Amino acid sequence: MVDVLLGLQWGDEGKGKIVDYFAPSYDVIARFQGGPNAGHTLYVNDKKVVLHQIPSGIFHENTTNLIGNGVVLDAVTLRRECDIVQSFGVDFRKNLYISERTHLILPTHRALDKASELQKGNEKIGSTLKGIGPAYMDKTGRNGLRVGDLLDKSFTTQYIKLRLKHQKLLDSMNFHEDISAWEEEFFDAIEFMRQFKIVNGEYFINDKISQGKKVLAEGAQGSMLDVDFGTFPFVTSSNTISAGVCTGLGVAPQKIRDVIGVTKAYCTRVGSGPFPTELHDATGEELRKIGNEFGATTGRPRRCGWIDLVALNFACMVNGVTKLVMTKADVLDAFEDLQVCTSYVVNGQKTRQVPFQMTKVNIEPELKAFKGWKQDTSKLKTAAELPEVMKQYVAFINEYLGVNVAYISNGPGRDQLIEI
Ligand code: GDP
Ligand code: IMO
Ligand code: MG
Repeated sequence: MVDVLLGLQWGDEGKGKIVDYFAPSYDVIARFQGGPNAGHTLYVNDKKVVLHQIPSGIFHENTTNLIGNGVVLDAVTLRRECDIVQSFGVDFRKNLYISERTHLILPTHRALDKASELQKGNEKIGSTLKGIGPAYMDKTGRNGLRVGDLLDKSFTTQYIKLRLKHQKLLDSMNFHEDISAWEEEFFDAIEFMRQFKIVNGEYFINDKISQGKKVLAEGAQGSMLDVDFGTFPFVTSSNTISAGVCTGLGVAPQKIRDVIGVTKAYCTRVGSGPFPTELHDATGEELRKIGNEFGATTGRPRRCGWIDLVALNFACMVNGVTKLVMTKADVLDAFEDLQVCTSYVVNGQKTRQVPFQMTKVNIEPELKAFKGWKQDTSKLKTAAELPEVMKQYVAFINEYLGVNVAYISNGPGRDQLIEI
């Protein structure tokens, strides 16, 4: 049996914290897509840790962690992260597995990412520049190198062949940065990777499922960054939605039980692209300040705005969300008034649907006002203690989406999660 936990907005919904909280109830935590563009924050012994490649179950001794075939893997980031994990006394060699089908991010992929963004100029995606797009392009273009190839004698030859191809592309894009230092650390990290348990991920996970083990698939990014269903072209290069679990781990759809969708009580986006409820005023600033909305991977300030039920409803539909987790509810504690987006006015036409493209049309959000609860909720422990006004805010969201908020997160700490 597989449950899925994923983000319903534009990423950074607090997935890391929630996976870390749920991890003790699962036998396996598996990443199924994305790569080091992800930054999942959790607190271990009150110390902040940001994970980019390793699944967020790594700090639980009895939890097995799998980097699935749908992920793109940066060996250098993985190595760095293993050092951090080890500093907490965790033996990553024991409970971290990597699928042999997982594609590798090469130093030239990072260079290509940078070159592509430079070429786009004002229309840049706002990529994290981790090489994600180029690595997935080599996967679908049938050129990429996979983790399993590491064990093959021809690995270096294959690498050189691909590097030459990339070099031609970089030359044609007029990109001439010296990447020899990146290459050096890449090959060191590749050596380091040889000590990992490199497995056939699809048999590994299906064997676990047959043995009755519980698997939690951990999403990266968010549904509105999905390459098919997000705000294209301002998206990432993988399927971030629940369907990505089947292709990203090799599990059949009938094996999936719950799809747990994580949303902030408001909304943020980092990088470029449409964001209908974005606030460009002092309220947006306040959300950023109180919510500490700065990227966990790049440190960039996150754009902030009100919760967008049109986009959330769409995300619930394409994912088949069965339960919601609402994070960062405490960030709204200080606000006198709150707003919720209930429809879009697209080029003058009111709609509750997300249009196929959102860049060439004018989208005005229709907002419904709510009174704020103006109370410190960060120390509350039970649903009964939650302010009445917050309950009304949540009830409205439940009704609009037709799915219920099952947990409210009221702070970054492991223990700040209230079951409803
Ligand atoms: P992820 O990418 O979805 O795992 O989310 P990030 O880790 O990038 O960003 C979420 C940020 O919000 C992190 O700094 C978390 O520590 C923090 N966070 C998570 N849940 C809560 C919450 O309920 N309240 C507050 N105030 N912060 C939270
Ligand atoms: P987590 O897992 C927020 C955004 C980037 C950019 C776009 C494409 O922490 O929620 P890419 O590097 O994939 O080419 O960037 O997607 N992005 C994220 N935004 N959270 C993330 O991951 C993100 N991963 C990518 O900012 O706009
Ligand atoms: Mg993040």
